[in-house]
This record gives sequence, structure tokens and C-alpha cells, in this order.
Amino acid sequence: MNILDFSSIDDLKRISREICNKGWGEANGGNISIRLTGEEQAPFQELQSADEETSLPFAIPELAGESFLVTGTGVFFRNISAFPQESLGIVRINSRGDGYSTMWGYSAGGRPTSEMSAHLLSHAVRKKVSSGRDRVIIHTHTTNLIALSFVLPLDTAVITRELWEMMSECLMLFPDGIGVMDWMVPGSLDIGLATSHLMEKHRLILWAHHGILGTGPNMEQVFGLIETADKAAEMLLKVMAAGGKKQAISAGQLRELAEAFNVDPLKEAIT
Ligand code: 13P
Ligand code: ZN
Repeated sequence: MNILDFSSIDDLKRISREICNKGWGEANGGNISIRLTGEEQAPFQELQSADEETSLPFAIPELAGESFLVTGTGVFFRNISAFPQESLGIVRINSRGDGYSTMWGYSAGGRPTSEMSAHLLSHAVRKKVSSGRDRVIIHTHTTNLIALSFVLPLDTAVITRELWEMMSECLMLFPDGIGVMDWMVPGSLDIGLATSHLMEKHRLILWAHHGILGTGPNMEQVFGLIETADKAAEMLLKVMAAGGKKQAISAGQLRELAEAFNVDPLKEAIT
């Protein structure tokens, strides 16, 4: 089996292009990881990596033996399609869950994204809370959501409610809201721990003055989630620039919407 034929690699190429088209993929901004399916993991089960194992500053036994396709650090999303083997890698978590080996890729001497802590800790949480359904994490530098983090209080309930009020799809697509974090040092263990903690409850996490993380079962759905939230943020910025809201979807109407679409909205955002 040729690894470059994996459907995960095709998806990643396509979505990284979409991200660039949106203007979210400046330079090496953003990173993506995918927990491979059993079928895609199979070629690596018996293989030994030629490289030395990299230790993790934490243990995630929930992910022991799992393999992930991960974008490399410093990789420009616009170059992934042309240079997949240089830009991407497949890493396998060891049997204790406290280190990983590179099984394929990073062919020009690269290594996984600097945001590995946020990705792996969040995968561990989402695997548990979604009963194995969520496999993908996308981190990207969404222009409008970042802008919004300068003008709204950095509060999960406030930002969730403001986005829900912009269009009906928001509550339908992310009833679990958007978890909001203060600015933290990119690539740090602390940002990874705080992110994974919020991932217990939310599939979208806003990193103030930096970007967004989204998770879900496949690339398409995660990209859709992120683009919906960023479109709502864009509209909110336009509404603010046009002098502010004169009317909006009310709390009662949001409740009606939740009932009609049988979703359970984040309580603190709908009081
Ligand atoms: P990497 O190039 O290490 O993936 O970092 C990009 C980024 O967006 C950091 O938050
Ligand atoms: Zn980033």
C-alpha cells in the first residue's frame, strides 16, 4: 500500500488548500493531526522506526499504539500538496503512551508541529468523550475570530452567545459552544493542558489573539465547524462597525431552535 494514497493524506491536502484560500494559512500558521483508522494503521503495526523515540512531557495511555498523521513544524500549508512527504509525517505512540516514533514522512529532516502537546492531549480527551468518533484536530489562524478576541470579553458564555446570535446554523452546529482561553505561549505544555481541559466540553476552542482549534470525526466536518464560527465572527465585526445590533435572535428563539433541532445548548450561554 502506498502511503501517499491514504484518503487522510488526500483530505489533508484538500483542506490545507481551503485554509489558504480563506487567508488563514499565512507562512507556517496552523497545524493538523488525524488519528488514523485501523486500516491505515495496519502497515505500521509490525514496523520498527529507524529514528530514536521522542519522549513526551506527559503520558497518554489512552492513545498507546495509535498512529497519527501530523503536519510538520514550520510547514507552509500552501506547500503541502506539492511536497506531502516533506510536509507531513506519521508518528506512532509507544505502548506506555509517553513517547512517539516517526514511522513515515518528514523526509527533509522535519519533525511534528510545535503544538504536539495541544494535539495529543486533546486527542486523548476527545477519543474518550466521543467514544472514539473524533479523529481530527485542526488548528488555524482564523482572521475574524482572532479579531473578535480583541473586542469581546474573553468569556466562553459571552462569545458563544454572540456567535449563536449571528445566524441559526451556529447553535445547530456548535450547541456545545466555543471554549475561550486567554493568550498563552504557543507550543507550550501549558497551552496544551488548558486546551485539552476545555475539549472535555467543547469541540471549538478559541486561543485569544492567536487562532482556533476544532475537532470532529473527519476533516470536512471540522473545517465546516470552523468556517461557520469564523463567518459568524465576520458578521459580528461588520455589525459592530455598522453601529451595533438593533435586533438579534433572542434567548427564547435560541431555545426554540434548540428544541426544533434536538440539540442541548451550552446552558451558561442561553440564560
Ligand atoms: P508549527 O509550524 O510548529 O505547526 O506552528 C504553527 C502554529 O500555528 C503555532 O501555533
Ligand atoms: Zn498557531
